[in-house]
Amino acid sequence: MKKQHILSVLVLLSALLITASSIDLSNLYNYGAQGKPGYINKDNTPVTNSITDARATLGRVLFYDKKLSANNSIACASCHNQAFAFSDTAVRSVGLNGGLTGRHSMRLVNARYGTSPSFFWDERAPTLEHQVTEPIQDHVEMGFSGLSGQAGIDSLIRKMATLSYYPQLFQFAFGSPEITEAKMQQAMAQFVRSIQSFDSKFDIGRAQVPGQGMPFPNFTANENAGKQIFMHAQGMGTPGCQSCHRMPEFDIDPLSLNNGVITKAGDQTGFDLTNTRAPSLRNLFNPSGSLNGPLMHNGAFTTIEQVIEHYNAIPQNPANTNLDPRLNGPGGNLQLTALQKTQLADFLRTLTGVDVFTNPKWSNPFDASGNITILGLNSSIYQNKAEKFAIFPNPASQFIYLKLPQGQYNVHMYGINGQLIYSGTAEASERIDLPGFAAGFITITAVNQTTGWMYQAKFIKQ
Ligand code: HEC
Ligand code: HEC
Repeated sequence: MKKQHILSVLVLLSALLITASSIDLSNLYNYGAQGKPGYINKDNTPVTNSITDARATLGRVLFYDKKLSANNSIACASCHNQAFAFSDTAVRSVGLNGGLTGRHSMRLVNARYGTSPSFFWDERAPTLEHQVTEPIQDHVEMGFSGLSGQAGIDSLIRKMATLSYYPQLFQFAFGSPEITEAKMQQAMAQFVRSIQSFDSKFDIGRAQVPGQGMPFPNFTANENAGKQIFMHAQGMGTPGCQSCHRMPEFDIDPLSLNNGVITKAGDQTGFDLTNTRAPSLRNLFNPSGSLNGPLMHNGAFTTIEQVIEHYNAIPQNPANTNLDPRLNGPGGNLQLTALQKTQLADFLRTLTGVDVFTNPKWSNPFDASGNITILGLNSSIYQNKAEKFAIFPNPASQFIYLKLPQGQYNVHMYGINGQLIYSGTAEASERIDLPGFAAGFITITAVNQTTGWMYQAKFIKQ
């Protein structure tokens, strides 16, 4: 087959996979045990939040759910698109009601594999767990800020409880159906950390040699020369680009200051000096060879050649009070020849993989109308045992009794619109009073505290 034909078959295949709009809880994707190459050592996963398949699956649903925005129009994925390494081709992304973000969206690939625990261009989020619910609470991005007339995240949580799939998914992932911000943070951080890419030409070469400084057998002469420039660029002091974008993770040095790119996104007159972080330099390009969106916090560069020119002659602006000293003075001029510039660009192109752009485990689980199907609820972890759960009396007015197998249960009741109206614990056959509930259908769930099995039933409140 011609290369072009293979490409179009690949594109078609991935389009088919990516439209699969369901989650199968009895057959989860592997997020927790993906493994990594032996030469990858940096990892910012906190001991309290290592990845499980169940929680990362919940994180995937949250990441793609437009209902997490105030008007059901924006999801994380609106600005972090799998086809572009989870970044955006626009300089500034469109959020709620057409509002624009203050900076360029960041690629989210290999966010896990770095030493710095902090996130965002200016590192203002101390951990990924803190970061992931900030866009939801940003008035421009997803709009649950709790400020200037906008509802807060508690209101989002009440909204989520009315969607049939969330109590089930939280039950599945965390063993109890309550939705909390902390659980959302854990699940979304796990999904983001699961997004990884180690099938690049760089990785294939690195696996064949004992040290990363040695020529890679699968590289062209130019790519190997470019790797040397990256590691030892003259004039930037050794080790060159490597001193801030550290191979083989290509994560940012947590001590880096800014790199001389100082204007604001969308405003050439204003300064933005606090940008001291870059996402991993892996997957700057997508497999078709084009950049995954413009580069830097302000999206100022649309080609890799412009980036190299920038580092070849760093603008020395007295207004820049936060320039990294490694880029200051004579060292700020790399004095690369035209050939060396090409070699450096060739090397940066070897950092692109394929899998992360097409693997369905990181794709949208919703269909075009925003619906999702949850399959496999009868797996051993989540059991819907409605047939063994009875409520007496039914209809009920003042109180109910739960008829369940012996045991202690976490009990939740949901009103006609799915809103949580009661939560508590009870033993089987215990009486529960129903003070002041509105008349109508009530859905009740009881989770056995020992087995984790969930029983669900409905009754009528008179
Ligand atoms: C409206 C567009 C938009 C939406 C929606 C959005 N993001 Fe972002 N994201 C951005 C921009 C822009 C940045 C960089 C902002 C900055 O540094 O000031 C960013 C940065 C990030 C980073 C930091 C990456 C790094 O390496 O430091 C993470 C992680 C992230 N977003 C995850 C999410 C998650 C999870 C959601 C959904 C809850 C989300 N984003 C929703 C635009 C968006
Ligand atoms: C002193 C530390 C430092 C050195 C040395 C350095 N960089 Fe950077 N780099 C940064 C910082 C900080 C950013 C983010 C700046 C911003 O967006 O304002 C960045 C951003 C980038 C980006 C854009 C990333 C993105 O996601 O948009 C590329 C590409 C890049 N650097 C390549 C290089 C190359 C190639 C070299 C060597 C010629 C190099 N860097 C040397 C600190 C450094």
